[in-house]
Amino acid sequence: MSIASRTKPKVFVARMIPDQGLDLLQQHYDVDVWSDQLPPSREMLLQRVQGVAGILSLLTDRIDGDVMDAAGPSLKVISNMAVGYDNVSVADATRRNLPIGNTPGVLTETSADFTWALLMAAARRVVEADAYVRAGRWQTWEPKLLLGQEITGTTLGIIGFGRIGKEVAKRARGFDMRVLYLASTPRDDPDATRLDAHRVDLDTLLRESDFVSVHTPLTPQTRLLIDAAALSKMKRTAILINTARGPVVDSAALYDALKQGIIAYAALDVTDPEPIPTDSPLLQLPNIVIAPHIASASIATRGKMARMAAQNVIAGVTGERLPHCVNPEVYDHASI
Ligand code: DGY
Repeated sequence: MSIASRTKPKVFVARMIPDQGLDLLQQHYDVDVWSDQLPPSREMLLQRVQGVAGILSLLTDRIDGDVMDAAGPSLKVISNMAVGYDNVSVADATRRNLPIGNTPGVLTETSADFTWALLMAAARRVVEADAYVRAGRWQTWEPKLLLGQEITGTTLGIIGFGRIGKEVAKRARGFDMRVLYLASTPRDDPDATRLDAHRVDLDTLLRESDFVSVHTPLTPQTRLLIDAAALSKMKRTAILINTARGPVVDSAALYDALKQGIIAYAALDVTDPEPIPTDSPLLQLPNIVIAPHIASASIATRGKMARMAAQNVIAGVTGERLPHCVNPEVYDHASI
């Protein structure tokens, strides 16, 4: 190791990330990358962060006070390569004056696109149809083969009217849909007018929507928001889509609702837990489509996320304000 590299600040990167981010970090720092396919164990994480100035984490890594203390006083920044940051203890970081970065904006359209991919796959039974063909069961054109739900002209209920929820609403206009939404944003959100989306309470949204799409962050208020009671208020023909966080939906209640025909179908990009256990009863159901948390997984978007996460690290390590900081209160008493 050269003298120059020995003097560079150390940064721990919790997995192989796209080059757009890694190259940037490697230009500035002594970078330690966890290169396994699976995330570091708790023990390994606590060991590898020792003495680092920055941690670039993923949503699979629990970053709490113990990890921050294991890193020690050299730690200047935690940068999560995701827009969601429920895996990072914001309170622990803020108490230690540590800024946390995330990657908002760059994955909005890509995630909305994938929400629509799931919505349409569920409505029109695309995965079942593919399995049917591969199994050699396609004998002829049949008037009642694999009938699904209509999309055009139906009602879409969006839970969480942030960036991604709004992009999902925008796409619904192309399908002449009526759009309802539930949000904590101010009543007179100008985007709602622009998108012709109507603010309603949760019960109305569940009762009137043909498609219910979840776009809320995971918080104590949204954990298990879609439970048995919520599912029982939905139409029997309704389809639930979740591309936000698994624990917003009660998995056991979802299984019962799909099994008993309380709702028609579900399409999930996120599960609770992740990955979904291979013996999960949900995997036995025909009326569910499950993807492995890939809504933001386009080549271009993951590159942008990696770059943005690296930029947050660089800003934090150099003592500048993070371009995208989830706890800006750490700057309240600082000079930057
Ligand atoms: C996020 O960014 O929070 C997504 O879940 C992964 O892209």
